[in-house]
Amino acid sequence: MGCRVIIGGFFGDEGKGKIISYLVNKDNPSIAARGGVGPNAGHTFVMGDKTFKVRMLPSGVLNKNTKLAIGAGVLVNPEILLQEIERFNAQKRTFIDSNCGIISNEHILRDSSEGYLKNNIGTTGTGTGPANSDRALRILNLAKDRTELKEYITDVGLMIYSYLEKKEYVLLEGTQGTFLSLFHGSYPYVTSKDVTASSICADVGIGPKNVDDVIVVFKSFVTRVGGGPLENELERKESEKKGWLEYGSVTGRERRSSPFNMKMAKKAIRLNGATTIALTKLDVLYPEISGVTEFNKLSTNALQFVEDIESELGLDVVLIGTGAEMNAIIDRRK
Ligand code: IMP
Ligand code: MG
Repeated sequence: MGCRVIIGGFFGDEGKGKIISYLVNKDNPSIAARGGVGPNAGHTFVMGDKTFKVRMLPSGVLNKNTKLAIGAGVLVNPEILLQEIERFNAQKRTFIDSNCGIISNEHILRDSSEGYLKNNIGTTGTGTGPANSDRALRILNLAKDRTELKEYITDVGLMIYSYLEKKEYVLLEGTQGTFLSLFHGSYPYVTSKDVTASSICADVGIGPKNVDDVIVVFKSFVTRVGGGPLENELERKESEKKGWLEYGSVTGRERRSSPFNMKMAKKAIRLNGATTIALTKLDVLYPEISGVTEFNKLSTNALQFVEDIESELGLDVVLIGTGAEMNAIIDRRK
């Protein structure tokens, strides 16, 4: 089955949680591993009438057959992680790399008190930037030194590699979005590390040759929370009228919005080596297709939107989100 990476194509909040929860429930991967920054990301997914959010565990948490792992490059807030393990009853299937960095209260304080990060960048205040800066200074504490995490500690890279050797299905979950990358995004209005597909692989401890498939997730419109440029940004009122006004799942802050940006999408495909596209929230643009699960039931306008994306970007749109529930999706994978 091989290794698939799911990556955000804009500024985070593209709906990766929904896509991942669908794929994990449908495809039953042996392991879902999380890369990315840390608890600054909030992934949301809906099963039936229940809404779930995770900030530390992978979004595949609802499938009890899938092992859950957190790669060495990911920062861990032990309190949040342990709460999630308990909430999802995931004690027996959670694995944390011994080299994950640990966020302390002092990092959170530095990230959330008045100053450059909070006031100029508009960070999430979750301590990730200060913790990554301590990691670069080689003074950050690691997961292997924390007794409360002891039962979960493992070598995640080795674990994933052993699944790959057996040709089992491995799903890697990226967090944030391409344009929040410290290297390729709109610096300084970015997160504290690179978050493109290559970095997600490095985070969990595998090399580029191990990856078979990179799905880039685009929302049908663009949102951004925090500071930084947003081309063609709508007025708040306009955003509200269109139903594009969203709120951050970690911070509760209002998200800014703009129409789908083809230029950025093209760049995201290049930066991530994307092989296919998942398009989310198409029902927000075209309410008449809400809950549709068959491609030939799309309305003319919705179909045109998808076809424009495919012809401009030169990749297939293989998954199309038509509602919040994880199964409100058109799955066109071969
Ligand atoms: P930090 O990652 O908390 O340092 O925040 C840096 C920037 O990235 C801010 O603009 C945040 O709003 C944004 N950001 C970080 N994580 C996410 C995410 O998961 N979704 C959306 N924006 C994010
Ligand atoms: Mg989010």
